[in-house]
Amino acid sequence: MLIVSCSHGRHLGRLIAKKLRMPHSNLIVDKFPDDEIRVRFDFNFKNRNVFLVQSFYKNISDCIIEVILASKTAKELGAKKVVLVAPYFPYMRQDKRFHKGEAVSQRIIGGLIDKYFDAVYAMDPHLHRKNILGNIFKIRAVKLTANNLIADYIKKHIKNPVIMGPDEESYKWAKNVAEMLGVESRILKKKRYSSYHVEVKLNKKIGLGGRDAVIVDDIVSTGHTILETAKVLRKLGAKNVHCLCVHGIFVDNALSKLKNAGIKVVSTNTIPSKVSKIDVSGVFSHDVIK
Ligand code: R5P
Repeated sequence: MLIVSCSHGRHLGRLIAKKLRMPHSNLIVDKFPDDEIRVRFDFNFKNRNVFLVQSFYKNISDCIIEVILASKTAKELGAKKVVLVAPYFPYMRQDKRFHKGEAVSQRIIGGLIDKYFDAVYAMDPHLHRKNILGNIFKIRAVKLTANNLIADYIKKHIKNPVIMGPDEESYKWAKNVAEMLGVESRILKKKRYSSYHVEVKLNKKIGLGGRDAVIVDDIVSTGHTILETAKVLRKLGAKNVHCLCVHGIFVDNALSKLKNAGIKVVSTNTIPSKVSKIDVSGVFSHDVIK
C-alpha cells in the first residue's frame, strides 16, 4: 500500500501516511508552457494499492485532470487498485438542472471518477437531493464526517454554545453536532437569489441574550450565508458569533469579510487556510486506509 499526495493533497497525505506508518510519496506535477499538466511517479508500486490524496480547491479543473492522469498512469504501471481520497470533493451542489439547459455536473463528474478509480472516500460531501454517495458513484464510495472533531473543538473552546444551521441542508452538520454536545440548536431557512445574494430567517424563535451562537455548516464559499445568518443572530442578542465549517473554500476575500463582521471562523484542514485548525487526517487514517 502506498499513500501518494497530489498537488492539493500534500497537507494531508503526509500526515495520513505518518499516522499509518506507511510509505508516502508526492506525485510530481508540473505544467508545459501552454498550461497542459504533466504528472509523474518516481517510485515503484507494482501490485500495490495506491491511495491518491487530492483536495479539490482553487484550480478545481486542474485538480481533476491531475487525478485522472495519475490514476490511469498508476494502473498502466502496475498498481493493483487506485483509490481516491478526497478531503474536499467538488461539484456536489449542482445535483439537478436548476435552469433549462444546464449540466447536472454532479452526475458527470461522478461518472468520470467511476471510470478511473476503484473506490473513493470523501469527507462530508454536500449531499442534498442525492442523499447517499451510492446515488452518484458506481464504484465503492464512502462518506466520512468531521462532525465529532467539530463537536470536540466547540466543547474545548466555546462555553455555553447554541448551535445554528444556516439552511435546511445544514441539519446534517448543525443538528448532529448539537446532539453530540447535548446543547440547543436551530435550523434557519435560506433563500438564495444568486451566488452573492442570500436571505436567511429563523422559523422558531430562540433567545440568545448574552450567549455564544455557533453556526455550523459544511461549506463556506463566498461567506454570504454566514454573514446573513450572523445578522439574524446578533438581532437575537448573541454575544459572540462563531462559524465552524468543514470545508473553508473562502473565495473573494470571504475570510476578511467574516473577520470584519466580527465572526470567529474555524474550519477543518480539508482545505488549508489561516483558520484550518481542525485536523482531519486521523479520520482518514482510521476509517479509510486499513
Ligand atoms: C450550501 O447549501 C452549503 O451548505 C453552504 O451553505 C453554501 O455553499 C455556502 O455558500 P456561500 O458561503 O457562498 O454563501
